Amino acid sequence: MGMRVCSRPWPQSPNTLSLRSMLDTYPPPPDLLSAEFERCPYPAYETFRSHYPLFHEERLNAWIISRYDDVTRAFRDADTFSSRSWNDQLRPLVQQSLMAMDGEEHTRHRRLISPAFHRRQLTDRIGDSVADCARQLVHSFAADGTVDFCERFARRLPVKVIMRLLGVSDDHDDFRRWYRAIVDYSGNFAQDAEIARAGFRAGQELSEFLGRQIRLRRADPGDDLISLLCTSEVDGAGMDDEMIKSFGLVLLAAGGETTEKTLGLTVCHLLRSGTVGQAALIDDPALLDRALAETLRLTPPVRVITRVARRTVTLSGGTVPAGALLFLLVGAANRDPARFRASDTFDLFRADAEVDRAFTGAAQHLAFGSGRHFCVGAALAHMEITTALRVLFQTLPDLRLRPGFEPREAGFVTRGLQEALLDFTPVSAHTTA
Ligand code: HEM
Repeated sequence: MGMRVCSRPWPQSPNTLSLRSMLDTYPPPPDLLSAEFERCPYPAYETFRSHYPLFHEERLNAWIISRYDDVTRAFRDADTFSSRSWNDQLRPLVQQSLMAMDGEEHTRHRRLISPAFHRRQLTDRIGDSVADCARQLVHSFAADGTVDFCERFARRLPVKVIMRLLGVSDDHDDFRRWYRAIVDYSGNFAQDAEIARAGFRAGQELSEFLGRQIRLRRADPGDDLISLLCTSEVDGAGMDDEMIKSFGLVLLAAGGETTEKTLGLTVCHLLRSGTVGQAALIDDPALLDRALAETLRLTPPVRVITRVARRTVTLSGGTVPAGALLFLLVGAANRDPARFRASDTFDLFRADAEVDRAFTGAAQHLAFGSGRHFCVGAALAHMEITTALRVLFQTLPDLRLRPGFEPREAGFVTRGLQEALLDFTPVSAHTTA
C-alpha cells in the first residue's frame, strides 16, 4: 500500500467543522464572488455542505447546492432539473448544443454522436495519433531541462487531438487561436468587451472553416468525425450543417479546456504526492488510471454546472421554486466526507474510488457529471491523458517540480493551474527520436 499524502497547502481545507460545533458558532455564508473564494474555495465548500446545503445567492439569483447526494440527484433527475441553463453560457457563440437539450431532443442528438466516442472506436482510429502528438510536444522541449508543462504541453495537446478527431490537419495555426479565444470567451465573467468580440469573431471564423469541411465531407466522406456526423441518421433524420458546426464549437470548448486543465493537475498531483516513482507509473497502467481518477475527484476541472428546476423541488436544507437556477458545486460534492473518506486528501490508493468505473457513466466522482448528460468525451479524455502521461514519463524519467514552485489554481467555473514548472535531465532530440 502506498503512503497517504497530505497535499497542504494545495489543496487542503482545515477541519474546522468540529471546532466550530464545539464553540457553538455558526459561520456566515461564504461569498462565492470574493477574491478569497477564487484563491481557495475549499473551506467555503465545507461551510456550504455543513451549514448551507441549500443557499440562495442573491447577486447571482442562483441556488447553491454542494452535498454529494443533492448534486448527484440534480444530475440524474433530468426530468426535474433541466439543462437549458447552458444556453445562457454558450450563446451567442453556439446556437444549439447537446448540453443545453432536454428529453427526446437530447436523446436523439446524443445517439447520433456517441458512436464516434466509443472507447474501441477511438483507440483504433486515433490512439496512435494521440501518442504521436504527445511525442512531438515532449520533444519540442525535451532538450531544455525545464518546462512550463501547462504552456508547452497541456494547452496544446487537446486541441491537436480534437482536430485529428474531426479529421482536420493539425498544422492549422488558426485552430489554436480560435481555441484560446473561445476558452477566454467562456471564462469572461467580467464581461470584457474585447474578449467577447474576439471570442465571437473566433466562433464565426471556426464556423466558416467547419462549413467548408462539411461541404468537402458531404461530397467525399472519410472515417473522421465530421464525415460521421454528415452521414449518420437516427429515425431517418441526419444533422444539418448548422448543427454540425455548433457541435464542432462545443467540442473545442468542452473537450479542450477540461482536458488541458486535467493534464496539468494530474502531473502536479503525482509529482507532488511522490507516492509512486515514475518507473512504476510506466510499468503499471492501472496507477495512471488511479492518478487520473483521484485528480478528477479532488480537483475537477469543471467546478460549477447549472440546472433549472422544472417544478418546486425539495433538497437538503429546503425547497426551491419552479424556474429556479441552481449552481451544482461539483468541487464540493466530490469532497463530501459523507461520500469519500479523507476527502480532502490526494490518495492514489483510496478504497472508495472504484477506478474501473471512474471513466464510465457509473463513476463515483462527479467530474464528468452523471446521468443522461454524462460526458460523452470521458473515454477520449481517459485515453488521451493516460497516453500523454505515459509518453511524458517515459521520455523524461526524472521529471520533478521545480524547487520552490507551488501549484496555484485559478478559475470559478473551470479551474486549473496557471503554470506547472518542471525540471528534468535534458534529453537530446537524437536520443528521444
Ligand atoms: C477531463 C476532461 C473532461 C471533463 C472533466 C469533462 C466534463 C464534462 C461534464 C461535467 C459534462 C456534463 C455537463 C452537464 O451535465 O451539463 C460534460 C459533458 C460533455 N462533454 Fe465533457 N469533459 C471532459 C472531456 C471531454 C472531451 C475530451 C470531449 C470531446 C472532445 C467532451 C465533450 C463533451 C460533450 C459533447 C458533453 C455534452 C454531453 C451531453 O450533454 O449529453 N468532454 N463533460
